[in-house]
Amino acid sequence: MCGIIGYTGSRNAAEILINGLEKLEYRGYDSAGIAVFDGDKLNVCKEKGRLENLKILLKKHPVNGNSGIGHTRWATHGAPSKINSHPHTSMNGKISVVHNGIIENYREIKVFLEENGYKFISDTDTEVVPNLIDFYYEGDFLCAVKKAVKQLNGSYALGIICSENKDELIAVRKDSPLIIGIGENENFIASDIPAILSETKKVYFLNDNEFAVLTSSKITVTDFDNNIIEKEIHEVSFSETDAQKGGYEHFMLKEIHEQPKAVNDTLRGRLNSDLNLLLDFINKEFLTTVNKIYIIACGTAYHAGLVGKTVIEKLAKIPVFAELASEFRYNNPLVDKNTLVIAVSQSGETADTLAGVRLAKTMGAKILSISNVVGSTLTRESDYVFYTYAGPEISVASTKAYTTQLTALYLFAVYLAETKNTVLSSELDIVKKDLLSMPKTIENVLKLEEKIKLISNKIFNEKDMYYLGRGLDYAVAMEGSLKLKEISYIHSEAYAGGELKHGPIALIEDNTVVIAISTNKNLSSKMESNIKEVATRGAYTIAFVNEDTNCIHSLCDEIVVLPAKCTLLTPISTVVPLQLLAYYVAKNKGYDIDKPRNLAKSVTVE
Ligand code: F6R
Repeated sequence: MCGIIGYTGSRNAAEILINGLEKLEYRGYDSAGIAVFDGDKLNVCKEKGRLENLKILLKKHPVNGNSGIGHTRWATHGAPSKINSHPHTSMNGKISVVHNGIIENYREIKVFLEENGYKFISDTDTEVVPNLIDFYYEGDFLCAVKKAVKQLNGSYALGIICSENKDELIAVRKDSPLIIGIGENENFIASDIPAILSETKKVYFLNDNEFAVLTSSKITVTDFDNNIIEKEIHEVSFSETDAQKGGYEHFMLKEIHEQPKAVNDTLRGRLNSDLNLLLDFINKEFLTTVNKIYIIACGTAYHAGLVGKTVIEKLAKIPVFAELASEFRYNNPLVDKNTLVIAVSQSGETADTLAGVRLAKTMGAKILSISNVVGSTLTRESDYVFYTYAGPEISVASTKAYTTQLTALYLFAVYLAETKNTVLSSELDIVKKDLLSMPKTIENVLKLEEKIKLISNKIFNEKDMYYLGRGLDYAVAMEGSLKLKEISYIHSEAYAGGELKHGPIALIEDNTVVIAISTNKNLSSKMESNIKEVATRGAYTIAFVNEDTNCIHSLCDEIVVLPAKCTLLTPISTVVPLQLLAYYVAKNKGYDIDKPRNLAKSVTVE
């Protein structure tokens, strides 16, 4: 959730750092800062709040110099404030550090350093790092960094500079992402690719405990024992404009509209028009031994997992447990060598998902990750990887990541069913055909935008809204409700239709908004009963139905008929109008849709 950028070269470092930090704003932050060498002087400029504040400061006090580090902070240890923001500098001003992650043993290091005469000014865990490096510094910068890092417990991506080695920038990571950008007579570090995409497309992915020393002309990567590590250059395939808004008012709206293409990209090269699956990413022999699957994920990715559970069970006839990654570890999961754990994560950096994966591995499970970020920590720690290829998702509220995760899970379910021969191939062909037509279906559903906008105009002032659904519609209702609360700050819950009478119906009074999702013709009569139950108690009902779902139109205050048919794949098209509804409700309220309060794009701490 914090962002790191670093630069060494011959251009104005402050400008490059600020530019890079702007590209990382989507991650969520509460303060920002840079440290740049200006001749012999180390200039550290920090401000609480938006980057704009830092830019105003830099306008008043311009900073020159050709190498430096920058950071956007999202508070974990110590409140958001100027003093707690990064970079943090050693007491004597020699070493400056930007850090993502958490130093778990910072208290004992602090005591150790205080006993050795060091004084601290912030409440952060990070401040121990520059001071510890300074403690070990005897003229060899890298050696001091390695000694200090050896003493750190926890997770970290660090960018470090030293006033006695002004042309060097050191980067190291453990359990927190960090990449190296390779330029012409200049080099970069960043926590995320968009930060440096306008400068270079050539990157190295740093692994845990690899130390990179960057000068303007050279990058050397070594391990703790000073062995040189040869890194492979990766060419980033998406362009900078891909990471921009492309004419839409918000990234979220752009990403909602990108879904036909994103789903198509997930399918491309994996399912051809002859209905042949071209998947070979997982060992078939192993698959035949799998007798249980856990899907672990957080938030939106977990909601995708709930759909995945139903679909895999239906097609591949294997028990699947969809669990919140943050709970998985504490629930004594029954994992062994015949278990496949599917970890779903857009970013591939979510701390809880990674922790679940690591536990499952120690218990003998094989890990299949479904992720959007090539080279992310999750993908590197997995046995098998299925990339969603949705392109960068900048909006904090996830949309295209969800629909592409669903697409990946459907593809996997079909693949597993085919491998295990659990259903008739004619049945699988129907699912495959529906998958291939899904980009077009989503395109058609997006045409409902104007209608959704009008509905949002009527309800955006409400305090509470409830979502109802049955079967797969219930999983989609959960995602619709999460989208609404994330960006509009309206209290919202999703309930399974059958649960209504067991408590939630007590909440219904005159004009309570109830959003009923009824896309399954086999369950629509039951949903009709639910709609009646809330309508007679005064609810304002909005129903989302498929064109082949029976629904008494006169029963609902609003009805949205999706140009889609009831199939196993319905969740992919049904979620789209719910995303639009959340978007337009939040827009009516005038909120910062791409950067909702208190939220961050990737949650790399527990
Ligand atoms: C919701 C949202 C979050 C993420 C969750 C997991 O819009 O974006 O709920 O889905 O934090 O993130 P990833 O998929 O990166 O593991």
